[in-house]
Amino acid sequence: MSKTHQAERLDAVVVLAAGKGSRMKSDLPKVLHPIGGRPMLHHVLETAVALSPQRIVCVVGHGADRVQASAEACIAAHSATGLRFALQDPPQGTGHAMQCALSVMADGQPEGLCLVLYGDVPLIRAETLRKLLSAAAGAHGFALLTAELADPRGYGRIVRDAQGQILGCVEEKDASADQRNIREVNTGFMVLPKAQMGPMLARLSNDNAQGEYYLTDLVAMAHAQGTPMVGVAVSDFSETLGVNSQSQRADLERRFQALQAEALMAEGVSLADPGRIDVRGQLLCGRDVHVDVGCVFEGRVVLGDGVRIGPHCVLVDVEVQAGARIEAFSHLQKAVVGPQAVVGPYARLRPGTVLGEGSHVGNFTELKATELGAHSKANHLSYLGDATIGAHVNVGAGTITCNYDGANKHRTIIEDGAFIGSDSQLVAPVTVHAGATIGAGTTLTSDAPADQLTLSRSRQTSIARWKRPKKVSH
Ligand code: UD1
Ligand code: MG
Repeated sequence: MSKTHQAERLDAVVVLAAGKGSRMKSDLPKVLHPIGGRPMLHHVLETAVALSPQRIVCVVGHGADRVQASAEACIAAHSATGLRFALQDPPQGTGHAMQCALSVMADGQPEGLCLVLYGDVPLIRAETLRKLLSAAAGAHGFALLTAELADPRGYGRIVRDAQGQILGCVEEKDASADQRNIREVNTGFMVLPKAQMGPMLARLSNDNAQGEYYLTDLVAMAHAQGTPMVGVAVSDFSETLGVNSQSQRADLERRFQALQAEALMAEGVSLADPGRIDVRGQLLCGRDVHVDVGCVFEGRVVLGDGVRIGPHCVLVDVEVQAGARIEAFSHLQKAVVGPQAVVGPYARLRPGTVLGEGSHVGNFTELKATELGAHSKANHLSYLGDATIGAHVNVGAGTITCNYDGANKHRTIIEDGAFIGSDSQLVAPVTVHAGATIGAGTTLTSDAPADQLTLSRSRQTSIARWKRPKKVSH
């Protein structure tokens, strides 16, 4: 079956996201806990969008308002449509969740397929789900994603007859001792033909060990009425792992980061240790990029050819152009670092910083909304805020732009080739003209003319016969 044909037949993806997640011990609804910097639910919705269904139905319950707002934002960010919500309150099982979903998907194509996903199972891949959809379409029936586990505890077991036909799926709490020995389990992912789903869901009962309406009871119903039922073995079980606790979230976070690290290395990025990088967004790299240990990348980060990132740096929405180096322990946010520039160690670039080609920003230097021109240097202990600094400028250690008068921010302009002596304060608004030299320790309150030495400093004196006071003993 061609992909488009399959997409046409995928009437709905239902995402179950009503669970409370008590074991997270958090006020945040479980499906909004992040993996890779964005809610688990977004990963699932993005996978759903990749399958191009006619509609996505999100079943919400606990924290419905927040979950709904978050889902809407995610779908809008992907310019997708067709998102609907079904309220399940209180949750009475996965079968009940599907009954709720059904109530908002009565339109659509009766002969279409319905795929069930889980808001707390974020790593499932679209490719795996396409296989499941093809299996259901090919069999004109149900398809279940299954796995053989050495330790099947906690999962619903797949019961088959001697010929290998699937007879049903029995929950662990309802299983006989023999059934508990079955190692083939239900991962939860399921494709259902929409036409048969409604009548079957209507017949569900909650007469079982948990007093819940089990979606998995549909498996035995399908068998009983002769509807084909196929099991598809998942090739990587870790895709189907869900999150019930902080520990499981952290485990999936590492798995997700490992996948991203693998993808970066496959693109040629050199990682000092793929186990010690966190990408919480998009990291786009040119050729021969090297990233040392402990770095965190957030939002959209672009690293040009030959860029080197030292250990323990944080880059948020940053562009680092070819050949630039970010040294250890630097923090950069919404900044552009020009080619061959060197930043850090221990530098802080705040939003609106633009560094020119070959410029240097050294230790304990902070820049905010400041442009530092090509080959200019601010190597030590400075604060440069709201400043426009030209090319080949030397900013001495301890220089501060006094950009804030307590009410308003003002700009400092330093033109090409200026030299700012150490420990100077530039009281904005003020301009240092081209080629000017500012003497060390100057408090500059009016513009410094080009090519002259400007300094504000009381003349140094020495008192020859001065005696240091001595303590008088009584
Ligand atoms: C379910 C399956 C089980 C399978 C296992 C895989 C059923 C009856 N059992 O069991 O066969 O091996 O998943 O992990 O389906 N949810 C709702 N509303 C509800 C109940 C659940 O939205 O009323 C959501 C939960 O938030 C969760 C998911 O559905 O995301 C699964 O629910 P859970 O109760 O954890 O199912 P299991 O008991 O693990
Ligand atoms: Mg349960």
